[in-house]
Amino acid sequence: MLLIKNIGTLATARGAKPLAGRMQNDGVEMIRDAAVLVNGDRIAAVFGAGEPLPDAERVFDAEGKLVTAGLTDAHTHLVFGGWRQHEVHLKLRGAGYLEILQAGGGILNTLVATRSASEDELYDRASAFLDEMLMHGITTVEIKSGYGLDAENELKQLRVIKRLINNGYDVVPTFMGAHAVPPEFAGDADAYVEYLCNTVLPIVAESGLAKYCDAFCETGVFTVEQSRRVLETAKRLGLPSKIHADEIDAIGGSVLAGELNAVSSEHLIAIDSRGVEALAKGGVIACLLPATSFYLNKGYAPARDMIEAGVPVAICTDFNPGSCPSLNLQFCMNLGYLKYRMMPGEILSAVTLNAACAIGLGETHGTVEAGKSADLVVWNAPDIDYLVYRMGSNLVSHIIRKGEVIL
Ligand code: NIG
Ligand code: FE
Repeated sequence: MLLIKNIGTLATARGAKPLAGRMQNDGVEMIRDAAVLVNGDRIAAVFGAGEPLPDAERVFDAEGKLVTAGLTDAHTHLVFGGWRQHEVHLKLRGAGYLEILQAGGGILNTLVATRSASEDELYDRASAFLDEMLMHGITTVEIKSGYGLDAENELKQLRVIKRLINNGYDVVPTFMGAHAVPPEFAGDADAYVEYLCNTVLPIVAESGLAKYCDAFCETGVFTVEQSRRVLETAKRLGLPSKIHADEIDAIGGSVLAGELNAVSSEHLIAIDSRGVEALAKGGVIACLLPATSFYLNKGYAPARDMIEAGVPVAICTDFNPGSCPSLNLQFCMNLGYLKYRMMPGEILSAVTLNAACAIGLGETHGTVEAGKSADLVVWNAPDIDYLVYRMGSNLVSHIIRKGEVIL
């Protein structure tokens, strides 16, 4: 048993369901002078001020600091080869994201580097990224494939993710073969979609290497109909939907997310009121990616409109070599505060419970409650207001992952 005592404030949501509307903020409790008892890799009990504490073999003194659940990053593309630093100056000279992609850069550039990387190389890089994330308080991560774009290389990415899981990383895998049209199918997205549906998806589903299927529904990438075809096929094969939607243009991706009752819809920078309504109706979690907005310099998703409409909001990094080369979710929390104008409690639920729910882990992750996974962060911060206010520093003091104090 491990007793974490002398917690100044324990800030946590409760339950296993995403928080929406006013509850996204009000559902976050501040428990003063708290303590947490951990048994193995699970939380055994939470104590408030004045409650008698049990004896434990190990005691960790939180020295009056803020403690939260470990952060969940519910949207990353972190298994990839190469980097894309040379594209930045093109962007600064005015080249658009889709323009770079159509010229064979962007995702297709990373495709070449990912295909030529060995599984071991990809594993070493990915595990280093996850270690760095952990040091920033992120204990659970979703990872998408989508830089292989053929059966062999998508499976290679998914096997790397599987190896990360086998080696103790808390990771959820998503298949994203519909991330771009690979060179073999240049100019024929329909044919690539058929290849995905008839050849790749059945193998992926059979392999058990993916939990979700994601598609990039965007002008010049996949249309609503193509995205629907991929996601419906995946759903029939047992992979629920996620959708990159309305990142650049609102072509109907968020409406499709609602229709498919997708688990989550991602980006949503350009979402319109029809899209917001569809997400609310479909019970879709909005995974917002403010560091990508920052990096693309193209405006921010209307988070407040979504919260007001009752859409549960999660905040994630989108870590990838193109549109977000940062894996610092704390920076995303700052942006959520300043750019989305979300309240500190809303932001905390966005990176804990709502994010966990966006990857199907609401029952076991995202809150500090008896029975949940013992993933906690001790912060060099007195309260959550401070956490979202300070910028550019890593405010982690200690991390407890699966019951082990690791920093
Ligand atoms: O979520 N928007 C599409 N996909 C990624 C970017 C991937 C890349 O540029 O390599 C994203 O931002
Ligand atoms: Fe993404």
